[in-house]
Amino acid sequence: MGKQIWKPGNMLYPLPAVMVSTGDTKGDTNILTIAWTGTVCTNPAMAYISVRPERYSYGMLRESGEFVINLTTEKLAWAVDYCGVRSGRDMNKWKETGLHKRKAEMLEFAPLIRESPVNLECRVTEVKELGSHHMFLAEVKAVHADEAYLDKNGRLELNHAGLLVYSHGEYLAAGKKLGTFGYSVKKKAPDQKKTVQKKKAAAHKKRLEHKKASNQKAT
Ligand SMILES: Cc1cc2nc3c(=O)[nH]c(=O)nc-3n(C[C@H](O)[C@H](O)[C@H](O)COP(=O)(O)O)c2cc1C
Repeated sequence: MGKQIWKPGNMLYPLPAVMVSTGDTKGDTNILTIAWTGTVCTNPAMAYISVRPERYSYGMLRESGEFVINLTTEKLAWAVDYCGVRSGRDMNKWKETGLHKRKAEMLEFAPLIRESPVNLECRVTEVKELGSHHMFLAEVKAVHADEAYLDKNGRLELNHAGLLVYSHGEYLAAGKKLGTFGYSVKKKAPDQKKTVQKKKAAAHKKRLEHKKASNQKAT
């Protein structure tokens, strides 16, 4: 079977579905759901969000140059969807979702969402008017981590939070651990090595038996 070739479009999945909180300089604040987001630099820590100018939040982002990326979990899935299909023009999404604001450390106008496990305070450095979406490139000014997800050594166990993923129109929960960073080149423990060797030997034996059987058939 071949592969179909489609016209250019967005098919880069999975993505995080984050809730972005922002505010204007008069004290009005809002939440919108964003999937067009990512990390772009480690040092300085930088991230981006891409937003359509017709969103109610767009004016706030432009005016204050501030936003908070709030990571989301399974528990927050309903609010994530709601904040992505309803506009702050017509309602107060804080009230409707029951989410709570918290004052940021480094920002003046954009609040954090208290219920989110991790919040990234961002200050806009540049706006790129790309087309349908304008990209807000920003420097991360502070990161908040909920103590509920810290282990006894103070290490963040983010993957125990039930992080939410957006993929091809659906929300999924990230769950199954397949390895850790660098595991493909890590030295194997001796008993693990033995298991791998045994598996390889069994596979080799199977291949030989299969070859023998097909040779017998052919003759
Ligand atoms: C899963 C999901 C992802 C979304 N991603 C984006 C995005 O990356 N950029 C954007 O402009 N809108 C995105 N939206 C749409 C906005 O969140 C939506 O239009 C929202 O109602 C805007 O709120 P506001 O008018 O209060 O600002 C997304 C919606 C959903 C449900």
